[in-house]
Amino acid sequence: MTTTTDFGRLSVPDLLCTSALDRDDLQRIFDTAAALKRGREVHTDVLRHKRLAMIFEKDSLRTRFTFEIGMQDLGGSATFMDHRDARLGSRESVKDMAKNLERWAHGIVARTFKHKVLEELAEHAGVPVINGLSDFVHPCQALADYFTLTERWGDLTGRTLTFVGDGNNTCHALIHTAVRLGVHIRVCSPEGYEPNARVVNEAMRVAAATGSEVTILNDPDAAADGADAIYTDVWASMGQEDEIEERNGIFADYQVDADLMGKAKPEAVFMHCLPAHRGWEVAQDVMDGPQSVVYDIAENRLHVQKAVLALLMAR
Ligand code: CP
Ligand code: NVA
Repeated sequence: MTTTTDFGRLSVPDLLCTSALDRDDLQRIFDTAAALKRGREVHTDVLRHKRLAMIFEKDSLRTRFTFEIGMQDLGGSATFMDHRDARLGSRESVKDMAKNLERWAHGIVARTFKHKVLEELAEHAGVPVINGLSDFVHPCQALADYFTLTERWGDLTGRTLTFVGDGNNTCHALIHTAVRLGVHIRVCSPEGYEPNARVVNEAMRVAAATGSEVTILNDPDAAADGADAIYTDVWASMGQEDEIEERNGIFADYQVDADLMGKAKPEAVFMHCLPAHRGWEVAQDVMDGPQSVVYDIAENRLHVQKAVLALLMAR
């Protein structure tokens, strides 16, 4: 059975950062993702004959597969360009790439080292640009993360998510999104590895209006105390490979293990964007234990990104 559904639109033309989304956008994405997930045996052809261009400067399993499969599910197609050996803008300008791609594709997903490159692509492309991970933020990940929590708990207002580890791209997206959903966010990092101060300050301003609390601290036990969710990510992100050894030492006390999970609520969940390194940022028994929702999140990348594609490209 094939159906076409009008899911509506987002208030923004691109998805570069969840800080550009308002509460209605977030709800629309979650509602659409839930509808698409419920009806996954029903093929909606809302993106029939639409083409997605995907340019990735870094490795990917989840983001690549979920966007490619998502486009197929919605009746369209995706073309992937592996750009590991040549950064965007090195063979020709980012502007010229954007001006070419918009002639062939109805949307672009890019995974870049520099967030600025994404902004430049979006500035020059007359089609939606979606951030598949930059050095600054990982918006699709955060959307799947909070969607996963809404499936379990419904309205997330007043829930507490604790991020333990590097104040990185994943962490920034979690902060941006938390304060717009009324979620309290605590980030616990070693000194010098806290999230970007501008992200934190902007989040605090939004939080004042939405009732969220933003707390930055260095003590994992205090951060985990009574939390609803404990989240971690790799200690060295892609592009920081030469710092791995140094970071493994600095972050050694920031592993999410059973003791730390024990400080959170008994029904708390463990979250990770993946890929994960068992024995480093997360203990094996936590990663593979009953509180872990990591594969639910990975599945939801598909449903949430289908929602984003439909809401940005079906116009
Ligand atoms: N979480 C995530 O974005 O995974 P990939 O790097 O495999 O796409
Ligand atoms: N912080 C990680 C996320 C990978 C999905 C990185 O940038 O490598």
